[in-house]
Parts: sequence; C-alpha cells; structure tokens
Amino acid sequence: MSSRPLLLTSALPYANGPIHLGHLVENIQSDIYARFNRLLGRDVLYVCAADTHGTPIEVNAKKQGLEPAVMVERYRTEHERDFRDFQVSFDLYSSTNTEENRRWAERIYASLKAGGHVFEKPLEQFYCENDQRFLPDRFVKGICPSCKARDQYGDVCENCNKTYQPIDLEEPYCVLCRNRPVRKESTHLFVKLSGFAPFLREYSSSPALQPEVRNYVTRWIDEGLQDWCISRDGPYFGFEIPDQPGKYFYVWLDAPIGYISAAETEAKARGQELGHWWTGTSEHSDDGEVVHVIGKDIVYFHALFWPAMLHAAGLARPTKVHVHGMLNLGGAKMSKSRGRMITAREWLDALDPAYLRYYLAANLGPSLDDIEFSLDELKNRVNSQLVNNVGNLANRVLSFVKTRFSGRIGALTIEPDTRASLAETCGNALRGFKTLNYRYAVQQIEAMGLWANAYMQSHAPFKTFKTDPDVALADVTLLANVLKALGTMLQPIVPKVAEELFAQINVRPKNWDDGVAFNLERHEIGTPAPLLPPIEAGALEKLFAPKEAAPVAVSAAAEPAAPMAAEMTFDDFMKADLRVGKILAAEAIPKSEKMLRLSVDLGEGTPRTIGAGIANAYRPEDLVGKSVVVVANLAPRTMKIGKTEFVSQGMVLAAGGGARGLSVTEVPADVAPGARVK
Ligand code: 2FM
Ligand code: ZN
Repeated sequence: MSSRPLLLTSALPYANGPIHLGHLVENIQSDIYARFNRLLGRDVLYVCAADTHGTPIEVNAKKQGLEPAVMVERYRTEHERDFRDFQVSFDLYSSTNTEENRRWAERIYASLKAGGHVFEKPLEQFYCENDQRFLPDRFVKGICPSCKARDQYGDVCENCNKTYQPIDLEEPYCVLCRNRPVRKESTHLFVKLSGFAPFLREYSSSPALQPEVRNYVTRWIDEGLQDWCISRDGPYFGFEIPDQPGKYFYVWLDAPIGYISAAETEAKARGQELGHWWTGTSEHSDDGEVVHVIGKDIVYFHALFWPAMLHAAGLARPTKVHVHGMLNLGGAKMSKSRGRMITAREWLDALDPAYLRYYLAANLGPSLDDIEFSLDELKNRVNSQLVNNVGNLANRVLSFVKTRFSGRIGALTIEPDTRASLAETCGNALRGFKTLNYRYAVQQIEAMGLWANAYMQSHAPFKTFKTDPDVALADVTLLANVLKALGTMLQPIVPKVAEELFAQINVRPKNWDDGVAFNLERHEIGTPAPLLPPIEAGALEKLFAPKEAAPVAVSAAAEPAAPMAAEMTFDDFMKADLRVGKILAAEAIPKSEKMLRLSVDLGEGTPRTIGAGIANAYRPEDLVGKSVVVVANLAPRTMKIGKTEFVSQGMVLAAGGGARGLSVTEVPADVAPGARVK
C-alpha cells in the first residue's frame, strides 16, 4: 500500500433536498475506504460538500421564499448531520458557495482562457417570457421530435431514448408556468473539449479508470467531443463570471472544483499546504493521491471535463475515479430524480445505520453493477452474519470468560495450520478493501465467523470446562483473538459495532496489523453485553411501505401536471387502435438504461416486438405475464440502441409519476389478448 497522502472525495450532493439511500450507497462506500486507509496508518483527508449552485436551487429557494444562500446552508447543515449519524467520517463537509471555491473557479477559468480553450458562440434557447428566464433542459417539456411521446424533457426522450436539443421539442411548455416559451438567442462561453482529446485518450487508458469506464470514455472520444457550454444567464444562483457581467459559471464548472476548495479549507485549518494533498495546487507538493468516488450517471463530468480542466490549470489529475452502480428498489432506480426515496433521516428514525452499512458493503464490488436492493437479503444477512455469527458468538465467548475464568483469558495456543488459514482470511479481506471489493471482504468476515461458531460448537468449552478447564480456557482464548480480528475487519464497515466489540474484549488495536495479529493472551477482558439487536420482523417493510406524498428530492422543481393537449374529435380518437397485449417476454437492451425489448401477444398468432422506455421502472422479469394497453396501429419504427437494432411494432401505454416513476397501464389478467380498448 502506498504511503502517499490520500485525498478522498465523494460526489457533492445538491443542497436542494435531503440525503437519501442513493447518496448513502456512495458515501458509505467512500467512508469504508477512508476508514480502512486510516486503519492502515495512512494520512487521509476525506472531504465532501454541498453542491449549491444552479437553476433548480435558485427556483426552489424562490418557492420557499428564501435567499438561495440561506436555503443551501440549511440543507448543508442537514446533510452534515445525516452523514454524521450514518457514521460517515468526513473531515469536512463544506459547500461550493465559498470564497475559496470562487477563487479556484476563477483561477481554473483563467487557465482555460489563457490556454485558448474558451470561445464565445451565440446559442438559441427557449425563454419563458412569463418567468423571464432561459429554460434549461429539465425546465422545458414537450413532444419528442422522434417518437412523438408527450411530456418529454428537453434533452432526452424517456420513451425512445433519443437525445436532441430542447428547441427540437414539439409543443414545448415551461414546466414552471406551463406557458409556451419563445426562442431567444444569447451569447455563451464554451470550452473546446475536443482540443483535449489526445490528453483524455491518454488519461482514459491509465489505471485511474475502471475498464468499463475506459470503454465509455474511448467511445465518447471516438464519437467526437462536443463543445461544453460553461456559462448561464441570470437569474442564476452561482458565481458571476469575472469578465462577463450578468453571466454565471454553469454549476458543473464549479462543482468538482469544490473538491479542491474543500480540501484547501481543511488543509488551512490544519496548517498544511494544499499541495500536501493535491499536487500542483501550491508551491510545495507531496505527490498525494486523489481518489473520487462517483456514481455512473456522472462519469462524463469526471472522466472528461474534470481532468481537462485540471490539465489546463496545470494541476494533478485524479489518481483514481472509482465509479459505482445505482441502487435499484423493486426494479425502480433510486436516483436523484425518480423512484422512491427513503431519506437518511427516515432510516435513522427507524433502524440502526450499521444494518445498512453492512448490507451495502456485502453488495459493493469493484465494478459498475447496480445493486438490487432486497429487504429479505438485508435482514437475513444482518441477522445471521452480523448479529448471530459475530454478536452472539462474542457474547457467548466473553460471558463465559467472565463467569468461568474471572474475566481473564489464558495462554494462546494456536496450531500453525490454523494460524496460517486465519491469516490468509485476514489478508484476503485486506485485498478486498484495497480494491474497493467490499463484497469480497465481507465474504472473509462471514467465513471467519462461521469457522469460529463451528469451533465453539465442536470444542464445546462450556462442556469441557467441567473436566478440563485448561483446554476450555485455551479454546476461548483463541476465540477472543478471532473476535479481535473480526472486529478489525468490521471496523471500516460498522465502526460503532467494532468499537463496542473492542471495548468488550478490552483492546484498542493501533492499526490493521495490530488488529489482526493473533497475540492476545493473559488479558483481562471488558464487560460483555449484547452487541447489536437483530432487525425485527416487519421493521424494514414498515420503513419501505409506500407513503402518502413521500418526501422526494428532485433536481428540478416539483412540476405541475402537464397542460392538456388540444381538443380532438371522436373520430380522431378512434384512429388509435388500442389493444390488450399480454407480455410474454421482456429483456434489457445492452447499453440502454431506459429501453426494454418486449414480446407481446396481441392475439394475432405471432407476438409483436415492442420497445418500451420503462427499464428504470421495471425489472424485465416483473413484466412477464402482465396484460397492458398497446397502441396497435402505430407505424412500425426501427429502434437502434448501441449495437441492438429492431423494429418496434407498437407502443405500451404508461403513466408517469408515482413511487416507481412510471407505471404501465394494466388490465385484469382474464381479459383476452387482442381485446379492443375504447
Ligand atoms: O449529480 C450530482 O448530484 C452533482 N451534485 C454531483 C457533483 S459531483 C462534483 F463534481 F461536484
Ligand atoms: Zn414559465
């Protein structure tokens, strides 16, 4: 393990809503890495911040009747508290709305300009005359120019997956006031990203990126890098651009810069130079490692824009950008903008954070795979592995030492084979943590827990004690050492549980090596007590039960219902041939987050192939057998997604909103496929 200083960050949550499980996946993942590295004795600075700028924040503050700066500070404080209570050990949870961040944003912008990377270009956008503002992609909706689906955002159609410009939308409307916007031109600043292509190609082939991410980046570069618009017109909450009055830096310009400024704030407080953590930021640099943990939805910003900005400013690029998958719940993504959110506070009010931390660790691997959140698995894992295999074992062993041996373990005797195999398990866990393969680390903890329970069972010290107390003492002495190793391996994952276990054993491991050394003997233990209660039956289900008007953090302001379409005649309506279709098969489409390919029986003998943009809302297997409403006489359309190409022969009707974000219109199962819907 490198002993270079480690600056670790996780993505900055928008100061526009509460922390929820989607954020926690990432911050628990990065916290485990921070704690593990500290346990190795590394010099670690772990920072994050509230991402405070942008139109949604400005609009939301106005709606709440607050100054944006006041609203974002409230959310920042709330985030800080939620993370603290989840035992996320940030050294600093800062804000992007600081003077340090403004200075760094100005400095990096100046470097981009000095390098000739910035140019001006007029841009035509939708403008709402009622709200007197330009409408960003998520503030304008309309009919998809490609598949004609209604109520699609200005950047991408959730039905057919096509991307386009907002001004391509048909019948556009402002999501704030529902009025039709006008087109208006304004001059903006752009970064010529393609100028960084050789550098980015080289960066993307470095070990900084996971192989899957490298592939994404290479593809984006091959397809040609688009110019990046870094300015926004007012009203906007952000930093005004120094030489451009009335224009502001786009939130995504100063957001990642928040990593540097947060590190600077904390470094200053410690009397250190920022260069200790981030090479190139101050005169003296210590060749520190910079590791960002992010979700796969923001790879573009972190693997292209961000390294390019750093490169232009002569600052070290991140050593590692670690990308994780999303959290899916019952087939629906728990993302920032859709799906059901359980907030951090709701969890904390109902359950111990250790349960979630342990479960997520058991499911976090080194790749970008999504996590299918399962309440059953969560409960089973926690209750059997953590509460039973570790907690109950500790209680049995330590209580036995207390009552039978006056709280003192004896001499440690350990077979060489046993020692070697236990050391191997600890070594495996170490590798798991190092490579952010926590799933593997948890497997080691589980294996050692099972082994120790089997040992307790087969050696039965509580029986042998009567006839051979020395043997019984040797057995529990060995088990006390195993418990200390288990506590050490658990420490990055469930720090409070580990702390409690250490207190009961009466040890304070100095570091990882000390914690997993089998060297404890003739030692007075602490006071045994139940380590962690099990998850009670029904507790998780209660927390996850659908709620009336669940609090949802949205990146755009809450939207009024879309305006009604223009009136039509009965004859017009009858042109649509709506039929009941039974879904026979459903499959995901590689490289598509939204589309599923369905095989649907419309009672015609041969089932139809239909593409449906519902992958965020349903798992393919959950759709099979459902009877749904299909527009049967829509002209067939060729769908081309990545390498997959097929002809879609209809459209499945679905309603937007609700807990899962999108729901297909279901018909009772006894209505025959092909039945007409009128
Ligand atoms: O996607 C988001 O939630 C952003 N607020 C993440 C910013 S990460 C970093 F670049 F600041
Ligand atoms: Zn408007």
